[in-house]
Amino acid sequence: MNSGREREFHFTQGDFQRIRRMIYEHAGISLNPSKSDMVYSRIARRLRATGQVSFNEYLDQLQVGSSEWQQFINALTTNLTSFFRESHHFPILAEYVSRIHAQGRNPVRLWSAACSTGEEPYSMAMTVIDALGSFTPPVQILATDLGTHVLEKAAQGVYPVERIDKMPKADVRRFFLRGKGNREGWVRVRSEVQNLVSFQPLNLLGADWPLKERFDAIFCRNVLIYFDKPTQYRLLARFHPLMSPDGLLFVGHSESLSHASDLFRLQGKTVYVPVGRK
Ligand SMILES: C[S@@+](CC[C@H](N)C(=O)[O-])C[C@H]1O[C@@H](n2cnc3c(N)ncnc32)[C@H](O)[C@@H]1O
Repeated sequence: MNSGREREFHFTQGDFQRIRRMIYEHAGISLNPSKSDMVYSRIARRLRATGQVSFNEYLDQLQVGSSEWQQFINALTTNLTSFFRESHHFPILAEYVSRIHAQGRNPVRLWSAACSTGEEPYSMAMTVIDALGSFTPPVQILATDLGTHVLEKAAQGVYPVERIDKMPKADVRRFFLRGKGNREGWVRVRSEVQNLVSFQPLNLLGADWPLKERFDAIFCRNVLIYFDKPTQYRLLARFHPLMSPDGLLFVGHSESLSHASDLFRLQGKTVYVPVGRK
């Protein structure tokens, strides 16, 4: 496990298996055996921060639900995202929201179920502002994630300017404020966009979701990939009754729901509709 290199902390195969079990049980994340170097470097930072001298000791002292537990979970999640990622989804969302709004759906309810640092739900908000031609459209966007660190960043809505350099200039002007002085190089999402989104912590594997009303669309992109098939299926079975009969489920480019064809039917590239909803 030390792969012939000197490491600052002793890290055994048993430590790695223990961490794999913990993150699987809590967050459903199946860590591939090839991820041991990644796990070492991410958790070694937590050992340094907490002054622990070994993985064993750190893990022995880790209490589920404590603030260090949250740091541990944060350290093991992958939060890569971007504005208008997998851009083909957004015209589909625009067309769908325009259509159901015209049919009288009010409010339209959308969910970004693994929102990371917020680029995804803000892209959804910008899309519906455009689609409905209003900065105050009758749309509510719930944005949730397991990671508290990413949710804090998401709620701030402040990003390095390079994160939006592929967006059309006119959209940048409409939807962002540019930082000046010591905020040069940063942009902030305009408050009209932020007002459409509410951020909340939510573990997709958690027993109780505080969700009662139906969603017209769920974005659950680039997170299913971390779950094994039975975990994915259980999650999809929980989404199903929460969706409008004509709802849309958007997943990531490498995610397929072919093992859940009794629940969701493919409608377009990585876009699904619930089967048999009344
Ligand atoms: C790679 S990011 C995807 C972000 C965005 N959906 C996108 O496609 O750009 C995966 C996100 O899933 C979150 N995540 C992982 N396990 C989760 C769980 N059990 N419940 C909720 N969120 C989870 C991570 O914290 C991370 O922010």
